[in-house]
Amino acid sequence: MIFISSKEMILERHLVIMRIDKLLSNLHYGSRKEIKKAIKDEHVNVNETIVTTPKLKVDPSKDRIEFYGKEVFYKADVLLMLNKPKGYVSSKEDPYHKTIYELLDEKYKRLDLKIAGRLDVDTEGLLLLTNSGQLIHSIISPNKDVYKQYYVEVARPFEAKKLLKKMTIKDSRDRDFIPKTPKVKQLTDTSFQLEIKEGKYHQIKRMVAYYDNEVTYLKRLKVGALKLDESLDIGDYKEVKKNNVLN
Ligand code: URA
Repeated sequence: MIFISSKEMILERHLVIMRIDKLLSNLHYGSRKEIKKAIKDEHVNVNETIVTTPKLKVDPSKDRIEFYGKEVFYKADVLLMLNKPKGYVSSKEDPYHKTIYELLDEKYKRLDLKIAGRLDVDTEGLLLLTNSGQLIHSIISPNKDVYKQYYVEVARPFEAKKLLKKMTIKDSRDRDFIPKTPKVKQLTDTSFQLEIKEGKYHQIKRMVAYYDNEVTYLKRLKVGALKLDESLDIGDYKEVKKNNVLN
C-alpha cells in the first residue's frame, strides 16, 4: 500500500499505482459513488486490512485487493491470444451474433481489452486482445508493416500469385484502396497462404473477388512474429508475452 499525492495514476514501466476507488470503478465494480459506499460499509480490503478511505493508493501488481471478499484481478499490458471460432463478431455488442468477449472469463472482461485487428464473423483463428494502446497501435498501424498471415480456401481454382499484382479494391468507407504487395504461397488449386500488411474491412475477400473468385474459408495463422498456438481449442485463449508479436 502506498500513499502519494498525485491525483493521477502513475505509470512507470509496469508499475501502476492508483486510487482504490478509481481502480475498482475502472474494473466495472460500480460507479465511484457505489465504490465509496462499499468502502464505507467495510466491503473492501487491501492486504487483509479494511479500507477506510477511497483515496487510498494501491499497487495492484503487489497489493492483494478484495471486493466483497472476492479477489480483484488487474494487470497492465495484458495480451491474449484467442483462437476465434466462426460465428462470433469482433465487437463488444451485436444484436444478431455472439461476440468474442463472451468467450472471456470475468476477470478479463473487466479489463476493457481492445481487439488488435478484427476478424470477420465467418473468419477463424488468431485474434489478439490487449489493454495496451501502444501495442494496438504497433500492430494495426499501416506504417508499422506487421504482416498478418492467413490460410485461404476459394471456391474455384485460383493462381494465388495473381494477388502480387497491383490492384485497387474498396475499403470500409467505399474509398479506393491499393494493398501493399502481399506474400503468397500456393498450397492446392483452391487454397493458399497469404500475408498482408494491412487489415482493411473484408480485405482478403475483396482481393479474391477482384479476380471473380470467392473465399470459402479463412483462418488467421500469424500476426507479426506471433503464431496461433494450434493446441488452443477453438474458442480458447491464453496470455502471451507482448514482445512476442513484433519482429
Ligand atoms: N480479410 C478478410 O476478408 N476477412 C478477415 O476476417 C480478415 C482479412
